[in-house]
Amino acid sequence: MSDMTALDNTAADTLPTLRIDRVTKSFHTAKGKITAVDDVSLDIRQGEFISIIGPSGCGKSTLMNMVGGLIADFDGQILLDGKAVRGCQPSIGMVFQEESTFPWRTAIENVAFPLEAAGMERDRRVARARELLDLVGLTGFENHYPSELSGGMRQRIAIARTLAFEPKVLLMDEPFAALDEQTRLLLGDKVVQIQQQLRQTTLLITHNISEAVHLSDRVLIMTFRPGRIKRVVEINLPRPRSSEMMGSEKFAKFVAEIWHDLREEASKGLRESEAAAAAR
Ligand SMILES: Nc1ncnc2c1ncn2[C@@H]1O[C@H](COP(=O)(O)OP(=O)(O)O)[C@@H](O)[C@H]1O
Ligand SMILES: [Mg+2]
Repeated sequence: MSDMTALDNTAADTLPTLRIDRVTKSFHTAKGKITAVDDVSLDIRQGEFISIIGPSGCGKSTLMNMVGGLIADFDGQILLDGKAVRGCQPSIGMVFQEESTFPWRTAIENVAFPLEAAGMERDRRVARARELLDLVGLTGFENHYPSELSGGMRQRIAIARTLAFEPKVLLMDEPFAALDEQTRLLLGDKVVQIQQQLRQTTLLITHNISEAVHLSDRVLIMTFRPGRIKRVVEINLPRPRSSEMMGSEKFAKFVAEIWHDLREEASKGLRESEAAAAAR
């Protein structure tokens, strides 16, 4: 019996949980057709942490919104455990850059919200929300309202609330972008610790190369419009990881390698925005 379980786990580790298969998305705008994502394919293993990095406007959010089911109309296929993703589903959780806490609910009521919506009885959902707040380091702040907390703490509430319904797949679109450097490092440590503990398949969009190297198993570099995969960099740094390893030589090598590829794409983005500003 235990052998069977071990076997099942091995199989689950090697099978992709999430398959992005030849996905293309164009938008038709007043200025014509924009291909935001162009023929992207990627297999993501269960429990894998992937970061997506690329210049602004290269299609990162569009790709993530398709995976999360927020955009249902696209070419190609996105499969979660072999089934097509179209529309939102409870096995996928999303965290966004902008503030998304409910200001009229306390920290604990925010985190308990999805559990309440799922019909969990009060005592159980409060206990569960308490555990989650503890996980993100907010014990003692249960009864505070978002307005009484810092931006970093509010973002941790949003993360805890997404974790409350135990999504198998966690999608995060620049969740730390509005935070200061120290908070960002500490929260990154926290997120990777939780992700490893829950073995969540995770996709993170970030502009921060160090953050991508710190957290990820693989970093996906996207090209400037149309958004294609330029390169996938395997980050074979040992785990558990913490922001303390950022000083190591191997870490610096990964950062330099990613910047080398990203630089070219970022310059194209910059040239285009300068041209647009000049035309105004
Ligand atoms: N709903 C939309 N309608 C029209 N164009 C869009 C829409 N969403 C995104 N785009 C365009 O698609 C491109 C990619 O956008 P996005 O995925 O938000 O990029 P990123 O997240 O990498 O900054 C951009 O040129 C953007 O203007
Ligand atoms: Mg975006």
